[in-house]
Amino acid sequence: MHHVRRMGHQCKNPWNSKEYAKEHGIPVHGAAFPCRLAEFFIKFMTEPQDLVVDPFGGSFTTAVEAERLGRRWISTEQMVEYVVGAASRFYKSDGFFQNVMQDGMMTTA
Ligand SMILES: C[S@@+](CC[C@H](N)C(=O)[O-])C[C@H]1O[C@@H](n2cnc3c(N)ncnc32)[C@H](O)[C@@H]1O
Repeated sequence: MHHVRRMGHQCKNPWNSKEYAKEHGIPVHGAAFPCRLAEFFIKFMTEPQDLVVDPFGGSFTTAVEAERLGRRWISTEQMVEYVVGAASRFYKSDGFFQNVMQDGMMTTA
């Protein structure tokens, strides 16, 4: 087939929320899509500093790639456990802030 794109599942960045989630007893998101898929569409559709919005964040793959590629981003997720797990992917990002509710959840998990 000519219109099939094969993409590896490995992220180029070292942020690994799975390890963090396992360590803290937080459920690991089971349906993350490949980082390279997010990378491809972000590069195809946006320029640096554009805003990338993903309302179904899951493990926040889109947000991770948007951050890495110098885009601004907004993502939402209905499962707070996934948000807490995904937050670990941004600890080293400029301006990272974690609210107290999430902190409490992580220390009691
Ligand atoms: C298939 S997953 C997305 C996976 C994501 N692309 C990734 O790479 O991790 C879809 C996510 O959307 C969330 N979701 C579903 N309905 C939602 C809603 N109304 N508002 C916010 N999040 C929602 C689910 O909890 C689930 O984590």
